[in-house]
Amino acid sequence: MQRIDGKQLAQAIKEELAEQVRQRTQAGHRPPHLAAVLVGDDPPSQVYVRNKVRSCEQVGFQSTLLRKDAGISQEELMGIVRQLNEDDGVDGFIVQLPLPAHLNEEEITLAIDPRKDVDGFHPVNVGRMAQGLPAYLSATPAGILEMIRRYQIPTSGKEVVVVGRSNIVGTPISILLSRKADPGNATVTLCHSRTADLAAHTRRADIVVAATGRPGFITGEMVKEGVVIIDVGINRVEDASRKKGYRLVGDVDFEGVAPKASYITPVPGGVGPMTVVSLLLNTMKANTGAIYPK
Ligand code: GUN
Repeated sequence: MQRIDGKQLAQAIKEELAEQVRQRTQAGHRPPHLAAVLVGDDPPSQVYVRNKVRSCEQVGFQSTLLRKDAGISQEELMGIVRQLNEDDGVDGFIVQLPLPAHLNEEEITLAIDPRKDVDGFHPVNVGRMAQGLPAYLSATPAGILEMIRRYQIPTSGKEVVVVGRSNIVGTPISILLSRKADPGNATVTLCHSRTADLAAHTRRADIVVAATGRPGFITGEMVKEGVVIIDVGINRVEDASRKKGYRLVGDVDFEGVAPKASYITPVPGGVGPMTVVSLLLNTMKANTGAIYPK
């Protein structure tokens, strides 16, 4: 069994990015600039956004954090999105989700200029991704692809079972791994809460991508020997022995599954750090015009 070390991989990619920034600034370009909008005080969102901003600093990007009160109106938030769309000094921006219940996430997502949508959530980017055109890929699926690429895990002709059909993880990773590309060319089954016999699917899988948001949901009996496990879950479970009162666990029962796996991503330190790095890679592409030429 080999642990996939997302933290180490993310660090290596950050060093590559920092070098790229150094070279580009020496050549007279301004550094990439990411803006993040954080509405309200959802604790996980605060942690994620803080990580994103800190990661920008580590690689020499400029970053701007716009913190807004949970009571902000839809109109005011739409105004901020429009301003960011038009700000030539900002290469890309994100609006951290989930938004408070009174706000319309769909309208906000649609208002973001696809050329600045470094989250890859806009339907233009999702559609381009599905057709294999240049697009910003959403960060978690892009991070998974990069892990698979760098660990040289074969996907062509393999049986992949994705558990969870969210717009930001399950659905896009299922499309990406079935594309005619490398990584890709897999036979992909997308399972979800209405799947009749989930274990019958996961037991056939060469690669399982677990993205359900349910702690320890995938157990040892549900997978075959030699399986590759990509655990996307970041679940907080109560733990009185920890200073914070909780610990993070994935969607996979690590102790039960790891002995059968050929490769497995731990939580924390697996997919999570790769997700942040993907956002940085997208922001670099926004700065250079690699996806949408300037
Ligand atoms: N909430 C959870 N993951 C993400 C993400 O990748 N981007 C944004 N904007 N919100 C999120």
